[in-house]
Amino acid sequence: MKSPLKDKWVLITGASSGFGAAAAKAFGAQGAKLLLGARRVDRLKTVAEESRKAGAGEAHFHFLDVASTASVEKFILWAKKLVQSPKSKIQSLHVLVNNAGGAHGLSTVAEGRDTDWEAMIQSNVLGVLRMTRAALPLMARDAGASIINIGSVAGHGAYEGGAVYCAAKAGELQITRALRLELLGTGIRVGTVDPGLAETEFSLVRFKGDAAAAGKVYEGMNPLTAGDIAEILVWVASRPAHVNIDELIVKPVDQAAIGKVFRRKL
Ligand SMILES: NC(=O)c1ccc[n+]([C@@H]2O[C@H](COP(=O)([O-])OP(=O)(O)OC[C@H]3O[C@@H](n4cnc5c(N)ncnc54)[C@H](OP(=O)(O)O)[C@@H]3O)[C@@H](O)[C@H]2O)c1
Repeated sequence: MKSPLKDKWVLITGASSGFGAAAAKAFGAQGAKLLLGARRVDRLKTVAEESRKAGAGEAHFHFLDVASTASVEKFILWAKKLVQSPKSKIQSLHVLVNNAGGAHGLSTVAEGRDTDWEAMIQSNVLGVLRMTRAALPLMARDAGASIINIGSVAGHGAYEGGAVYCAAKAGELQITRALRLELLGTGIRVGTVDPGLAETEFSLVRFKGDAAAAGKVYEGMNPLTAGDIAEILVWVASRPAHVNIDELIVKPVDQAAIGKVFRRKL
């Protein structure tokens, strides 16, 4: 059976690793046409190649820093040229996955650093706003288009050292809810997928390259994989056009709550 995503334009931010890279391959396997953005362009090149091998109709990539309005606008101009080129059969964006983001540090508020706080708000909150504002004019009305934001269980509950990351993802959740209200009547679907512990480069980034500290996060437990989330994103985007998956929390079985994780003795 032909996938509803075949030949549809899918834009994924943060496609250079983790969920975004896995999503590129998963949407590629449906025959989608990909627009991939992140700061590490060398990584995007590899992801684009792998996505083509997986079945992507086309896979394009371009530098994107969601922390910069100028970079977002340049990226969208580039995307618009591809989507609306004479050889493009479908001249609109079908899926926007606002995935770029992450945590920086695990400091208490008392010991927090401005650079970490600013990086988290820039990518997880302002990045989602900038990308959505810029991409909306490219999205078709009443064609089953979707904006899927990546939130987190951190947006639903706080933990020590997570004040700003939790605030950022709670912000993402409320932006998603407001946007759904604002886009009522356009046929554009708006939802958030909110994962728990998943083993990607997330913890390596949070602990600034300290692999031992990052490894401890997943010690003795079975975390989600990037592929698990990619599969869910494809499922959300391929529901019938009248179905909106509003909010989806997905955790590993070994994580009953944010700080309640079952760990096997090693
Ligand atoms: N892993 C988890 O446990 C988990 C759980 C819940 C939610 N999340 C969320 O899931 C999303 C993806 O994270 P991940 O787990 O896949 O981690 P990851 O492997 O570190 O991937 C993060 C991606 O975001 C991109 N990114 C970060 N800042 C960016 C910026 N300013 N501009 C453009 N791209 C940027 C990175 O690309 P470049 O560095 O190349 O720019 C990378 O591709 C994030 O929003 C994260 O907060 C993760």
